[in-house]
Amino acid sequence: MSRYDGKHVVVTGGGSGIGLATARLLAGAGARVISTGRTQATLDAAGLDGTVTAVRNDSGWMAGVEALAGRVADGFGTLDALVVNAAIGGFVPFGRLGRPDEAARAIAFLAFDATFTTGAELPVDGGLSQL
Ligand SMILES: NC(=O)c1ccc[n+]([C@@H]2O[C@H](COP(=O)([O-])OP(=O)(O)OC[C@H]3O[C@@H](n4cnc5c(N)ncnc54)[C@H](OP(=O)(O)O)[C@@H]3O)[C@@H](O)[C@H]2O)c1
Repeated sequence: MSRYDGKHVVVTGGGSGIGLATARLLAGAGARVISTGRTQATLDAAGLDGTVTAVRNDSGWMAGVEALAGRVADGFGTLDALVVNAAIGGFVPFGRLGRPDEAARAIAFLAFDATFTTGAELPVDGGLSQL
């Protein structure tokens, strides 16, 4: 059994960068993942295989969000984690920027292991979490 077997995840902006790394990490560990983006060419270039479903969608407007919700209801039925990643940003130089794979690991932890997110278990004194 893999770490995220049976989990249903949506990653917005999952066609490149941190979103793509997160989608691949979670799918590689068993989750069923929908990755979104506005540009079909970006989603195609990501080379998403059968483990990640690419869905062209713009989450920057309400109709797009509603369309995605419908797609998730049809495809998954339920949703375990929503990675709200899609955005654009600018950078202020500060040491080293996080690599996509580093951010992806933090996202996976926050989505599933961090118990304030799942509410499944509250570890104390640094105890291990269990999903
Ligand atoms: N990289 C860092 O160190 C860093 C630091 C702080 C915060 N962040 C934040 O982390 C997130 C990802 O960063 P990144 O560096 O991985 O960015 P990226 O490589 O530019 O990826 C962003 C992805 O989001 C998609 N996207 C943008 N707007 C969208 C929308 N309205 N609906 C759906 N998809 C959308 C883009 O594809 P399309 O254009 O085709 O839609 C693109 O694939 C961003 O929110 C960024 O602000 C990153």
